[in-house]
Amino acid sequence: MHPIGTLRLGVNIDHVATVRNARGSAYPDPVRAAKIAEAAGADGITAHLREDRRHISDEDIERLVEHLSVPLNFEMAATPEMQAIALRHKPHAVCIVPEKREERTTEGGLEVARDENHLAHFIAPLAGAGCRVSIFIAADPKQIEAAARIGAAVVELHTGAYCDLHAEARFDERDAELERLREMSSFAHSLGLEVHAGHGLTYDTVQPVAAFPEVMELNIGHFLIAESIFLGLEPAIAQMRRLMDEAREQG
Ligand code: PXP
Repeated sequence: MHPIGTLRLGVNIDHVATVRNARGSAYPDPVRAAKIAEAAGADGITAHLREDRRHISDEDIERLVEHLSVPLNFEMAATPEMQAIALRHKPHAVCIVPEKREERTTEGGLEVARDENHLAHFIAPLAGAGCRVSIFIAADPKQIEAAARIGAAVVELHTGAYCDLHAEARFDERDAELERLREMSSFAHSLGLEVHAGHGLTYDTVQPVAAFPEVMELNIGHFLIAESIFLGLEPAIAQMRRLMDEAREQG
C-alpha cells in the first residue's frame, strides 16, 4: 500500500496552448508557462495531447520532454497513435483518459470495467517502458476495482461533478459527491492504488479534496490559467499551493 504522504500539484498547461492556437501565433508558449509553474511550486506538469490537437501539439510534447525539470504527466486517449508517442518519449507518467471529439473537455471517466481486456493490454507496454500509468475514472467502486485488476499504478478520480454542483449552488448534492470522492479515495488506497484527483478544481473547491489523506496529487489547469490573466501565472499557482498545503495541514 502507498504511504499517505505529501500532496503534489500537477499544473495542466493545455489552455496556454488553447490561447496560442486561437490566433495561430507562437505565443503564449506552454513550455514557458511550464517553467514558470515549476518556479511557483508545481511538482509536475500535465499536458493532454488530444487526437484533434486542439491545444497541445506534438512539438509541445517534444519541447516539454526536453526542457522540464519536474516530471511530465502525459494525458492521452487509449489509441495506438498515442501509445506510440508515449513509448517514444517515455514520460514519467501517463494518464489514460476517455476522449470524444465533440466534447469541450474530458467529460467523464474511463469505462475501465467495460474495456478491461483491451486496457490491460494497452497499458502493459507503457508500464514496461517505466511510465507510471494512471487511469482517469469516476469515483465508482466498479471502475476502481477494474483499474486495480488491469495493473494500473494510479487512479485519478474525476472531480468535475463535485465542482459543477458547487458552481450551481446545489450544496446537498455537492456534499454527497464529495463524500463519494472521500470514500472512493480510501477504497482505492486500500486496493494498493495511488490516488490522484482533478478536473474543474478552483480556489473554492480545492480544499475539501486536498484534505483527503489518501490523495497524493491534484491536477489542475483551466482555473489556474484563467486566474493567471488577473494575477499572473506564478501568484495564481502559488495561491493554489498555499490552499492545498493549508487544507492538508488541517486534515
Ligand atoms: N485531470 C485530468 C485527467 C484531465 O483530463 C484534466 C483536464 O484536461 C484535468 C485533470 C484538469 O482539469 P481542469 O483543467 O479542469 O483543471
